[in-house]
Amino acid sequence: MKDRAALILAAGQGTRMKSDLPKVLHQVGGRAMLDWSIDLARQSGCSRIIVVVSAGSQGLQDHVTKVLGEGAFVIQDPPLGTGHAVQAGEQALKDFEGDLIVLYGDCPLIPETAVNDLFGELVNGADLGVLGFEAEEPGAYGRLIQGADGRLEGIVEAKEASEEQLAIKLCNSGVMAGASKFMFDLLSKVTNDNAKGEYYLTDIVGLANEAGRICRAVTCAEEDVLGVNSRVELAEAEAVFQKKRRDALLQDGVTMTAPQTVFFSHDTKIANDVVIEPNVVFGTGVEVETGARIRAFSHLEGATVRTGAEVGPYARLRPGAEIGEKARIGNFVEVKNTSVGKGAKANHLAYLGDGTVGAGANIGAGTIFCNYDGFLKYRTEIGADAFIGSNSALVAPVTIGARAIVGSGSVITENVSDDALALGRGKQVQKPGWSKGFREQKQREKSSKR
Ligand code: UD1
Ligand code: CA
Repeated sequence: MKDRAALILAAGQGTRMKSDLPKVLHQVGGRAMLDWSIDLARQSGCSRIIVVVSAGSQGLQDHVTKVLGEGAFVIQDPPLGTGHAVQAGEQALKDFEGDLIVLYGDCPLIPETAVNDLFGELVNGADLGVLGFEAEEPGAYGRLIQGADGRLEGIVEAKEASEEQLAIKLCNSGVMAGASKFMFDLLSKVTNDNAKGEYYLTDIVGLANEAGRICRAVTCAEEDVLGVNSRVELAEAEAVFQKKRRDALLQDGVTMTAPQTVFFSHDTKIANDVVIEPNVVFGTGVEVETGARIRAFSHLEGATVRTGAEVGPYARLRPGAEIGEKARIGNFVEVKNTSVGKGAKANHLAYLGDGTVGAGANIGAGTIFCNYDGFLKYRTEIGADAFIGSNSALVAPVTIGARAIVGSGSVITENVSDDALALGRGKQVQKPGWSKGFREQKQREKSSKR
C-alpha cells in the first residue's frame, strides 16, 4: 500500500454556530467533530494527519496539538477557499510521496468503508477520486458532472451551475483523494475567477481531465456526509449518529424496548444479551458485559457493568464505577470511583464514592460514603459479605471487615474488624408505661382549663 496522508480542513469561521467554541470542537456522540475526522484518517491508514486551521484559533490549535502532537496543524490566513486551504498544507507535506485524502473537520459521520472505496479507485487506476452522494435537495452543493463512460469530468459549484447542471442530484461531499504531488500540481493552476472569488478545490477535477487523467466518483448515503454549519445541523448529525448506533447494537444482539429513547456515545461498548430499558443515557467510556440489564432512567458514564449485573431504575454510575458480576445497583443509587464486588447489592438511595464493596456485601438504603472533608477525598473499604444497616454514614478513610455488621443509623468513624458488630448511634432508652401516664396527665390539664 502507498503511504497515505490526510488534510483536514477546519479554517472556516463557523459563525452560524454562534459559539465561542470553535465549530469543529462541538461534539457528536460525545466526541469533537474534528476528532471523528482524525479517527477516520487514522482508521484508513493515514500515517500523516494535518489539520488546516485559521489564524487566531488558539483553542483549536491547542486541541490539535493535544490529539496529534506538535506540528500537526497549519494556518491558512486568510481563508480564501477550499483549494487555498489544501495549498496551506503543501509545505508540511513537501517530502510526502504517497496518496493524500482531503477531509472536512465539520463532517463527522463518514464511514470508513466510503474512504476505503475512494482509495480503492486510486488502486484501480484513477488519478483522482471524489466521494459523492445523491442529495434529496442538492441546493448549494457542488454537482458532479459524469461522462457517458462513468468517469467524473468535473465539479460545478451551485453558484456557477447552469439550469441543466442544477438538476443533477449527484453532489460533492468534499472528500477527495489522489497522489499528493499530483493534487498540489493541479492546485497551482487553480484561479479564483468565479462567483465567490475563492480558490475552489473542486476545480482540480476539470484540470485533471484536461491533462488527460482519470477521475472517478464513489458514493455513500447523504446522511453519511452530513456537514454541520449550525446547531440545527449539529442536532441532526447527533440524531443520525444515535440512529446508526442503535441499529448496530440491535443487530449485535442487544435488546432495547424503546431504542429511540436510549442515547449512546461514540465509544459505548455493549455486549450481546444486554437488556436496556427506556430512557437510558450512556456518556463516554461505558462498557456493559453480556446478560446485564440497565433499567429505565439510568445515567452511566465512565463505568463498567459486568456480566449479569442489574443497574437502575434511576441509577447513576459515574467515572470509575465498576459493577461486578450479578451485582445489583438499585434506584437512586450513585456510584463513583468504586468497585462493587460480585453479587453485592445497593438496592436503594445510597452514595458509594471512592471505595470498594466486597463480594456479596449488602448496602442498606440511605448509606453514604462520606468521602470528602472539603479538601481531600478518602476511601471506604467494605469486606466481603458485610452488612451495612440502613442510613449509615461511613466516614472515610474507613474499613469495614468481612462479614461485619453495621447497625442501622450508625456514623462509623473507626475501622470495624471482620465478623464484628459496630454500632455508632445513641443508645435507646425505654421507660415502661411512661407514655400512658403522660397522656393521662395531659388530659387532666386540658379538662381543668375548660
Ligand atoms: C464545499 C464544496 C462543494 C461541496 C460542499 C460539501 C468547494 C469549492 N465546494 O462547498 O462542492 O458540495 O463543500 O459540503 O470545495 N474551509 C477552509 N478554508 C477555506 C474555506 C473552507 O478550511 O478557505 C473548510 C471549512 O472549514 C469547511 C470546508 O472547508 O470545513 C468546506 O468549506 P465550505 O465553505 O463549507 O464549502 P462549501 O461552500 O460548502
Ligand atoms: Ca459547507
